[in-house]
Amino acid sequence: MDSLTSVVTIERFIMEQERLHPEATGELSNLLYDLCLAAKIISRQVRRAGLTDILGGSGTLNVSGDLQQKLDMFANETVRNAVQHSGRVCITASEEDETPRVCPREEQGKYVLLYDPLDGSMNIDVNVSIGTIFSIHRRVSGQQEGASDRDCLQPGYRQVVAGYILYGSSTMLVYTTGAGVHGFTLDPTIGEFLLSHPRIRTPDVGRYYSVNESNWNRWSPAVQRVVATFKNGDGAVVAKNARYIGSLVADFHRNLISGGIFLYPADSRSPEGKLRLLYEAAPLAFVVEQAGGAATDGRRRILDISPTTIHQKSPLVIGSRADVEFATGILAAPPVPV
Ligand code: AHG
Ligand code: MN
Ligand code: MN
Repeated sequence: MDSLTSVVTIERFIMEQERLHPEATGELSNLLYDLCLAAKIISRQVRRAGLTDILGGSGTLNVSGDLQQKLDMFANETVRNAVQHSGRVCITASEEDETPRVCPREEQGKYVLLYDPLDGSMNIDVNVSIGTIFSIHRRVSGQQEGASDRDCLQPGYRQVVAGYILYGSSTMLVYTTGAGVHGFTLDPTIGEFLLSHPRIRTPDVGRYYSVNESNWNRWSPAVQRVVATFKNGDGAVVAKNARYIGSLVADFHRNLISGGIFLYPADSRSPEGKLRLLYEAAPLAFVVEQAGGAATDGRRRILDISPTTIHQKSPLVIGSRADVEFATGILAAPPVPV
């Protein structure tokens, strides 16, 4: 058993990181603690799913037309309640809120929080890993004008923190502030996130490819060629094993640790893909780049895309650097004339 001196709690880790920045005022650290608290509350509820009547559909649709699950809404409100009166954020935007929620004027702080409260929610009822994704930006609006959508619509390269919580075989929180990626595992017996994965690096070439192959007939020839190459291998690419959970966070996390590529490309039914830029693609892109990987929409670096709407979708190609570069090389090439 670990003695207390060898255990690094997330609180100690965040405090040590803050000391490296003498100009820091502590607000960002406190915002991260707020998110840790929300993560613990959501984790507790996820672990009880199936035991309480919180499990199951609520019968309403969210802005993307998905059936909202009760846990989706529980997670949505838990995160919002953890930050909204803290004086550290000025506005929040969530997958489950049609429009951003502006904090009361006198409580508006200097950060912006964008989040997917429960990712992979179709997996709740079947006891499969799900997660929460978050992205933090600095506010760009002035105190006088007040917070607005403008604060949310910033390109991903401006993120100051991004990360996710994975409710898997254990609960993990993984985040980056732009100084590497660090992972913490929740010890449920003491209710603390403990540093378990310092300085995560993702392999340059992955073992896995992750994509919903039932969309094959709706893909462009270029997407079909990329997936066929990962499946079968060719001169330059060694054939990979397929893994697809259907929860972005869980698929992403496995590939981050073991090496791999996740694709949710555009298809004839979803010309912009399915995943959302601000609170799914961009935060995971920041994490993966900090771990040595890459993320594109098939042509452009995800972090360079300037969003125009809150729930904007984007195709996503993310994971091990060499695999993403290979896929992007094919997807970005002009179509061969027939
Ligand atoms: P959410 O539950 O937040 O709406 O996200 C679901 C997403 C993502 O988690 C996953 O990668 C993808 O939907 C799976 O989609 P398909 O079922 O089309 O493969
Ligand atoms: Mn999601
Ligand atoms: Mn969701």
